Amino acid sequence: MIQIVDKYIKERYKDNYQQVRDEARLALKTLIARNGKGNDFLGWLDLPDQTPAHLDHLKEIAEEIHRSGDFLVCIGIGGSYLGSKAFIHALYGENHRIKFIGHHLSPLELHDLLDELEEKDFYINVISKSGTTTEPGVTFRILREFAEKKYGDNANRRIIATTDAKKGALRELTRQKGYRSFIIPDNVGGRFSVLTPVGLLPILAAGADMDQITRGAVSGFKFALTDNEDNPALNYVSSRNLCYRDGKAIEIMASMEPRLHYLSEWWKQLFGESEGKEGKGIFPASVDFTTDLHSMGQWIQDGVRNIFETFLVIDHYQKDVIIPADDADLDKLNYLAGKKLSEVNQKAYKGTKQAHEDGGVPTMVIHFDYLDEEHLTKLCVIFEVAVAISGYMLGVNPFDQPGVETYKKNMFALLGKPGV
Ligand code: PA5
Repeated sequence: MIQIVDKYIKERYKDNYQQVRDEARLALKTLIARNGKGNDFLGWLDLPDQTPAHLDHLKEIAEEIHRSGDFLVCIGIGGSYLGSKAFIHALYGENHRIKFIGHHLSPLELHDLLDELEEKDFYINVISKSGTTTEPGVTFRILREFAEKKYGDNANRRIIATTDAKKGALRELTRQKGYRSFIIPDNVGGRFSVLTPVGLLPILAAGADMDQITRGAVSGFKFALTDNEDNPALNYVSSRNLCYRDGKAIEIMASMEPRLHYLSEWWKQLFGESEGKEGKGIFPASVDFTTDLHSMGQWIQDGVRNIFETFLVIDHYQKDVIIPADDADLDKLNYLAGKKLSEVNQKAYKGTKQAHEDGGVPTMVIHFDYLDEEHLTKLCVIFEVAVAISGYMLGVNPFDQPGVETYKKNMFALLGKPGV
């Protein structure tokens, strides 16, 4: 189960709660009727694609990569990598054989990856909806040359492209080289694409369970699209909107589990790109606790009161560690002996939440029953519905991102791109 507990905010803003909730319900209606702004980008409401032929092809290639034990190098940026990175990091941790590159322009990172790949066999999944984005484009050119030198003609069999059905340089290259490929539907924007082949191929290649993902999506959409008191998307949106109207323009996603670091990164893109336009929008920030209590804790406790905080908490852990007793007890930690580390983490969360509320920070909590494919999918779907509702409440189109082009124009001009 995914549960949103927003008691504190409901109580704090009780005079305005019903009015804002009604606005959120109206926005949900617009989303369900599919007649709001950007309604040609609502394909994500029907994901994951249940067409058996598509899914079987995806599973087959993912299984081939998984069984091979080879590295999978995923090249993509923004919505073309954050969803799969969030799932894979949450489920399997940092040192996985699924590698992510092409989301920056770091010569150090790419150089070291190429060194590592000298000794390893690898597949490449190049992911770009437009097929023309500079960072993944440049990275793919380098890795393609590297793969062709290493594997000769067999390189084409090891490269899988995920891109638009017809448009873009990557689709053309795919045609010419005969890469195996998947399609990103026209009506699904990058940041909503985790349940298309963009996210699913790497996630399944890492070993995740598609049935759980499907279950999570079905139940997430059911909860988030039903207009009732328990709707987690409506609860979340109403509470954050009340904070925003009270001048709290920054939402801090505070995760008590570092494995959720990239889920927060994915959430930041989803909400940042969807809401931050026309001079409006909540700034999405994130911290990992307890780590960041030792760096950002002071600011959150005591700084400018323009923030609210959403905790991400896992209630039950499948793996745990018991703290041992120690005869000498020099570190004076015997009072914790016999306790699970997760229990200590729970108390850290409760103590932190209380402290921040006492410091004037409105808080709410998102509880995961367990951290698995089903719960991750469910939460992603709830967030997607929530951001659509929230964008409509702000009066913006939640599905475009016109501002992202400005830096690109400057960069192209500085690099001397022909025609710019
Ligand atoms: O949400 C978005 O649309 C963007 O963040 C894109 O995902 C990102 O810019 C990558 O674009 P593309 O997949 O076309 O390379």
